[in-house]
Amino acid sequence: MKMLLANAEAWPGFDTTVGLLKQGGASIAAMVSGIAKVEREAKVRSVGYGGWPNMLGEMEFDAGVMDGATRDVGAVGAVPATLPVSALAYEVMQHLPHVMLTGAGARRFASERGFAVDEVLHPDSKRVWWERLQKEMSPEQLAAFPDIALAPLSNAITDPERVRDTTVFLGRDATDNIGVVTSTSGWAWKYPGRLGDSPIPGAGFYADSRYGAAACTHTGEMTMRCGTSRSIVLAMRLGYSLQDAIKLAVEELSELKSGFLAGVVIHAIDAKGNHQVVNYRCEEEIRYWYWDERMAAPELRVAAQA
Ligand code: GLY
Repeated sequence: MKMLLANAEAWPGFDTTVGLLKQGGASIAAMVSGIAKVEREAKVRSVGYGGWPNMLGEMEFDAGVMDGATRDVGAVGAVPATLPVSALAYEVMQHLPHVMLTGAGARRFASERGFAVDEVLHPDSKRVWWERLQKEMSPEQLAAFPDIALAPLSNAITDPERVRDTTVFLGRDATDNIGVVTSTSGWAWKYPGRLGDSPIPGAGFYADSRYGAAACTHTGEMTMRCGTSRSIVLAMRLGYSLQDAIKLAVEELSELKSGFLAGVVIHAIDAKGNHQVVNYRCEEEIRYWYWDERMAAPELRVAAQA
């Protein structure tokens, strides 16, 4: 059964991917086409052009793709000046012997593959970035910026929306191949070079067409420590139901007692056509998009509470 699951931020590209899956398109290519629209949409304030910069006012994007038929992965992290960055992750998967590129190397590869050098800092993000940073800095820090210690500031300032949000697409195509694609601008005002979970296979995403797929949004600092997406797919391989596999992953998250602790949203599908989205400790109501081929149109639904 063809199906597509994505988080609420996926609205600019969800219908594009549904249309391609309906026409028989392959899951990864269809999802990369849809997610590119999310990355270019300025109204989506956590991904791509509409996202937030790092502490130095520079955009650094993370993305990942995984093909559940082959377990091939492509990922990029802390990439400057490049949209759509999920398409660049797909290029890594198709054209390099590597799984992941970061920073300047990823940008170099983008140029080799014909990606333009994009202006990616939205003027409103630039204005808000500087206003918030100024409020946190002493006159001495302000005078010396950016040649100051950034770590104390990165502990003090966080995302205006107080999320480390992401867009995730999990899909199953006409050949029953399951794939997953992720993209994010990461934690706003992050320390330069910080990677979230979105480019980390096993943490922010994982797919195996025989069992299912999982992808996470929000606090990558937790899912990276638990290997959350891989835990869920491995549990299904070991015979857990989708619900019990997610429950196990939530138990692992709740065992964390130190480090940065906040909310995580788990999105998962299984090879039998089930899906579930679970909100672990996010204060706001979490919604997601779902479509399968039995439905006339995609629906925006409310996630379960862990
Ligand atoms: N989940 C996205 C991030 O941690 O950046």
